[in-house]
Amino acid sequence: MGLVPHLQLIIYIYIYIYIYICVCVGNNETDRLALLEFKAKITHDPLQLLSSWNDSIHFCQWRGVTCGRRHQRVIVLDLLPFSELVGSISPHVGNLSFLKHLSLLDNSFHNEIPLEIDRLRRLQFLRLYNNTHIGKIPRNLSHCTNLKFINFGRNLLDGEIPTTLGTFSKLRVINFENNNLTGSIPPSLGNLSSLEVFATAWNNLGGSIPHSFGQLTKLTNFYVGENRLSGRIPPSIFNLSSLQVFDVGVNQIQGHLPLDIGITLQNIKGLSIFANQFTGPIPISISNASNLWQLQLNDNNLSGKVPSLDKLNKLSQFLIYFNELGNGGANDLSFLCSLTNATDLSFVWMHVNNFGGELPKCIVNFSTTLTQLILSTNKISGNIPIGIGNLTNLNVLAMENNKLSGHIPFEIEKLQKLQYLVLSANNFFGNIPSSLGNLTILTALYLDHNNLQGSIPLSLVKCENMIDLDLSENNLNGTISYQVLGLSFTAISLDLSANKFTGVLPIEVENLKNLER
Ligand SMILES: *[C@@H]1O[C@H](CO)[C@@H](O)[C@H](O)[C@H]1NC(C)=O
Ligand SMILES: *[C@@H]1O[C@H](CO)[C@@H](O)[C@H](O)[C@H]1NC(C)=O
Ligand SMILES: *[C@@H]1O[C@H](CO)[C@@H](O)[C@H](O)[C@H]1NC(C)=O
Ligand SMILES: *[C@@H]1O[C@H](CO)[C@@H](O)[C@H](O)[C@H]1NC(C)=O
Ligand SMILES: *[C@@H]1O[C@H](CO)[C@@H](O)[C@H](O)[C@H]1NC(C)=O
Ligand SMILES: *[C@@H]1O[C@H](CO)[C@@H](O)[C@H](O)[C@H]1NC(C)=O
Ligand SMILES: *[C@@H]1O[C@H](CO)[C@@H](O)[C@H](O)[C@H]1NC(C)=O
Ligand SMILES: *[C@@H]1O[C@H](CO)[C@@H](O)[C@H](O)[C@H]1NC(C)=O
Ligand SMILES: *[C@@H]1O[C@H](CO)[C@@H](O)[C@H](O)[C@H]1NC(C)=O
Ligand SMILES: *[C@@H]1O[C@H](CO)[C@@H](O)[C@H](O)[C@H]1NC(C)=O
Ligand SMILES: *[C@@H]1O[C@H](CO)[C@@H](O)[C@H](O)[C@H]1NC(C)=O
Ligand SMILES: *[C@@H]1O[C@H](CO)[C@@H](O)[C@H](O)[C@H]1NC(C)=O
Repeated sequence: MGLVPHLQLIIYIYIYIYIYICVCVGNNETDRLALLEFKAKITHDPLQLLSSWNDSIHFCQWRGVTCGRRHQRVIVLDLLPFSELVGSISPHVGNLSFLKHLSLLDNSFHNEIPLEIDRLRRLQFLRLYNNTHIGKIPRNLSHCTNLKFINFGRNLLDGEIPTTLGTFSKLRVINFENNNLTGSIPPSLGNLSSLEVFATAWNNLGGSIPHSFGQLTKLTNFYVGENRLSGRIPPSIFNLSSLQVFDVGVNQIQGHLPLDIGITLQNIKGLSIFANQFTGPIPISISNASNLWQLQLNDNNLSGKVPSLDKLNKLSQFLIYFNELGNGGANDLSFLCSLTNATDLSFVWMHVNNFGGELPKCIVNFSTTLTQLILSTNKISGNIPIGIGNLTNLNVLAMENNKLSGHIPFEIEKLQKLQYLVLSANNFFGNIPSSLGNLTILTALYLDHNNLQGSIPLSLVKCENMIDLDLSENNLNGTISYQVLGLSFTAISLDLSANKFTGVLPIEVENLKNLER
């Protein structure tokens, strides 16, 4: 029976708190005025998104505005992406003191991000991605301690990343990609124990990656590519088993990949260290990272034997070009056979290395998903194996500058998606297979600097999309038919020099453009 007085007391307390909030923190009239100020700073609204922001309806019904049910205060301001809004963010947005979610992505908000954002203590999601904000990240940002998600990516911000962000212990996502931020990555961010995504790629950040990031045990995505980072990767970061994407491409980072990388980074899907100064071998343990989908190790100084990759069944992009891998020896390419279990394999780019030995026949067992096979500028010998025609999705096959020999297989005609066929500077002999004419979307055919003989197959004129044709420096003979010259209608470059052609050119060169095909 004592319940009723208790209830009354609770109701009184409730009303008291309510009055307190309305009087001291502001009320919903504050929100209405703040929204009108917000609207006033929008100079273009071609899709009439804000036409509903008028006094005929309560502001809680205005488009993009959501209020809390009990107190009728604005908790969400989420204007549609691609609404073509132009304007600046009014400082009065700082008066929307109940705001949890501010989302203005994919519009053209310009000027600076107002410092008053810092008054939004309840803010959890702050998304200004893909606008044209200039100036700095509000440097006194220190009161938004409930922030979980901050995305200022794709703006024109400069200045430094505020160290105060390191105190926002609930932060899960930081995205500052595609700005012009300078300074270094603040070590204080290593204190963000909830952080899952850290994306600051495409900025001007210098210094090295802080050791404190090794404490971020929930980190799944780490993107810092295209900056000016130097130094070494702190070893503790390679211990973060949570990591799924690790991208430090295009920086000036040095050091080795740790020997146990494939065991410690057991969940890694994308490992991108391209265009840095890494040295040493690709660790044998890499094959233990069986979720790897993208492995971009190109443009470094990696050396040694490439290990077996037989457990990387999900590997799709295998890019190791521009390194010093291989020792020119017989077994250099045995790792290729370990890729035959990769059912999603799409790119194999391994040009400009020291690979020697014979091209293994097992490449014909690669998944038919393979689209680009580039082996150029190595010391690879052997033949193009019979069965190459099974790789029916290939659009780039480039093997120039090696020691390959034998005939160009007739069955290459099965590669109906081929656009670039580059076999220059090898020891290929025999005739140019007439079947090449069946490759109707071929745009570049480079067979120069080989020992090919016989005449140019007339069928090549069927390659109507040919832009570059180079057959120079071979032993081709016979006469050059006017049909072949007719290729120069589309071909920007046609080089038949240094062969053994006989006879007269069928027509004056200046009349070529009038040739009928
Ligand atoms: C005010 O908003 C309502 C609701 O969207 C709309 O029907 C009305 O035309 C608007 N009034 C003016 C004057 O824009
Ligand atoms: C709203 O914000 C502006 C700018 O910060 C401030 O000048 C004004 O006093 C605020 N209004 C209310 C009602 O709080
Ligand atoms: C950015 O927003 C504009 C519209 O303001 C849109 O056209 C563009 O595609 C967006 N870019 C990205 C990368 O989302
Ligand atoms: C941040 O700085 C701006 C301008 O200097 C000021 O208006 C705002 O109140 C500051 N915020 C906090 C929480 O100190
Ligand atoms: C980025 O900042 C640097 C110097 O801080 C400046 O030289 C450069 O022009 C800026 N780039 C852009 C795209 O604003
Ligand atoms: C991380 O937080 C601890 C405790 O709050 C503090 O002592 C330390 O200075 C912070 N580290 C960094 C790098 O800011
Ligand atoms: C990595 O983790 C192992 C096991 O948890 C630990 O022994 C080792 O010291 C860690 N290494 C670094 C560099 O943090
Ligand atoms: C890593 O792979 C090797 C070779 O396949 C295997 O012997 C080893 O047990 C694996 N280690 C772990 C920790 O999975
Ligand atoms: C492919 O996978 C099968 C089954 O997991 C395995 O037995 C075989 O050795 C693998 N082949 C290669 C070339 O790694
Ligand atoms: C090419 O594919 C065909 C049919 O899919 C198959 O019978 C043949 O054995 C394959 N050739 C090679 C060399 O793998
Ligand atoms: C391919 O080209 C050859 C020689 O030009 C021709 O005999 C053959 O019928 C062609 N095959 C296809 C499938 O068009
Ligand atoms: C072209 O060369 C081949 C072999 O090198 C020879 O059999 C053939 O007679 C030559 N043809 C002409 C027209 O010189």
